[in-house]
Amino acid sequence: MTHARQHTIQVVAHRGASEDAPEHTLAAYMKAIEDGADALECDVRLTADGHLVCVHDRRVNRTSNGRGAVSTLELADLAALDFGAWKDPNESPDWGDPEYTSVLTLERLLGLVADAGRRVELAIETKHPTRWAGQVEARLVELLERYGLARPRAGTTTPVRIMSFSARSLHRVAAAAPAVPTVYLMQFVTPRIRDGRLPAGSRIAGPSLRIVRGNPGYVARLHRAGHRVHVWTVNEPEDVELCARLGVDAIITNRPKQVLSQLGRL
Ligand code: G3P
Ligand code: CA
Repeated sequence: MTHARQHTIQVVAHRGASEDAPEHTLAAYMKAIEDGADALECDVRLTADGHLVCVHDRRVNRTSNGRGAVSTLELADLAALDFGAWKDPNESPDWGDPEYTSVLTLERLLGLVADAGRRVELAIETKHPTRWAGQVEARLVELLERYGLARPRAGTTTPVRIMSFSARSLHRVAAAAPAVPTVYLMQFVTPRIRDGRLPAGSRIAGPSLRIVRGNPGYVARLHRAGHRVHVWTVNEPEDVELCARLGVDAIITNRPKQVLSQLGRL
């Protein structure tokens, strides 16, 4: 396989090893670490009582046996739900200890990464942060400060980065925690970012696979503008091959083991 840039492509487990295990659960993240993923991706939302939890959708209906919006539920309400049973309802899967499929707080995920025994990075995405007028970012930075992840010691880098489709959210993070890298996620290439330059406060580019497929030259343009490029969500071998050929810096995938194997890392 030819690589445009001589570097190791980081393999990021999207919502954990989410093809094999229920997304955003300890089961999925533990599997991703076991599979050898370089980094884990998670989405965070604020509960009604101010906890950051790893849930993708606004509501818990799709990924749990409960109903309702995360923002209207308290952590104790979420803790009573099962976030694993939906994955394979016909096969009565056994994910082991219910702890592995209960709601995952960001704090618990930070603990898992800290105990991984090797450097595992964490790409945290803020979901609909504008609704909260800065509260999501404030909680996030407070947590990173508490875990010593917002201000890395001289000569080191933090293993955490913050991603968002909201430039405003990233701007807030960059202002409060300048040492934490930010990833500007893009679903479309708007005229404003066509030349490869990102909004202020955004350091790394996060184009969708659809953008990269439709406009492969955009990766080089982003690189020329000084940005690393993290592409999501890349699951099929031909798309992994395309990303490798274009020299992207990270591949965000539901299948970390398969991608690592294709890249010759297993
Ligand atoms: O990693 C970025 C990607 O996760 C954005 O889309 O909907 O899966 O959060 P979504
Ligand atoms: Ca996400």
